Amino acid sequence: MRNIYPNIFKFNKKNLLRAQKLLKKNNVIGVPTETVYGLAGNAYSEKSIKKIYKLKKRPKKNPLIVHYYDLKILKRDAIIDKNFEKLYKKFSPGPLTYILKKKSSSKLCNLTSSNLKSVAVRFPKNKIIRSILRNISFPLAIPSANISESISPVRAKDIIDDFGKKINFIFDGGFSKIGLESTVINLIGKIQILRPGFISPNEIGKVLKRKIIISKNFKKIRSPGLLKRHYSPGIPMKLNCKKNEYKAAFIVFGKKYKNKNNLFNLSPKGNLKEAAKNLYKIFRAIKKLKYKKINVVKIPNKGIGVAINDRLKKASR
Ligand code: TXA
Ligand code: MG
Repeated sequence: MRNIYPNIFKFNKKNLLRAQKLLKKNNVIGVPTETVYGLAGNAYSEKSIKKIYKLKKRPKKNPLIVHYYDLKILKRDAIIDKNFEKLYKKFSPGPLTYILKKKSSSKLCNLTSSNLKSVAVRFPKNKIIRSILRNISFPLAIPSANISESISPVRAKDIIDDFGKKINFIFDGGFSKIGLESTVINLIGKIQILRPGFISPNEIGKVLKRKIIISKNFKKIRSPGLLKRHYSPGIPMKLNCKKNEYKAAFIVFGKKYKNKNNLFNLSPKGNLKEAAKNLYKIFRAIKKLKYKKINVVKIPNKGIGVAINDRLKKASR
């Protein structure tokens, strides 16, 4: 049976074949992953990649992440080393993106990684996207399915908020399990985190037996997408607030807040993973309610709280 939205499809064998066929024909489709929903296109096809940039209004100098099922096809496109192998064994499939050297013989379309010599690769864990990737002969470029700089989608319907009918096939995979984008780690030269996410510097450090820092100088490592305002509901936002103001939306965390008007609790239990999962949902709800201002309490800066604070900071610029 079809969903009430004619472009949202439930996952079954017939629709899986349909999605794969669309991708083979250089179309762009909406897909769930465990982090956020994405717009998927054949990473070897310039036609597909151009469509992605155009749909997202994304600057061409902001490279995309290429998603693989496993190492088989990856090895044709990128150079891997011992550090990658250790991390892959521990964290993939899952919410970790690796920056690797691109092979000169790679079939990846140059625009996919903005003509850089490096490529960002990820092995998503979500069952639907893995089924799609399992038996196609090309990897998928999948940026988050939102217009550049705005809020990432965490369910199929969110994609329609930004794109309407422009995306005519979206797989319904329910709410994203994690709700924040993957951790991005640079493995070329100095190993460091370019974008914090669900997997923490500590966990990565344990596997590589060294201290891993979150890079503060993104410019130098040419990751333009990580520089400016992002993940934003487009409403002025103030961080580290102790109390709210009249008529503003108040994003809070923890049990001490009683359910009052204008209050949006990321996690009444005070659980940071739950807060991460709710962050974009709450941004979207506040936007729909047409608030003119958002105040946010201080969020603990540990575990996935580091990634939450990173997104809040970028959304508040
Ligand atoms: O969780 C995720 O990673 C989601 C889901 C859909 O997989 N995807 C995602 O893609 O967040 P996107 O395009 O919204 O973010 C990709 C980030 C950008 O900030 C980009 O600058 C960075 O990865 N990136 C991509 N290729 C890079 C490269 N070669 N070197 C450095 N940074 C790169
Ligand atoms: Mg994005």
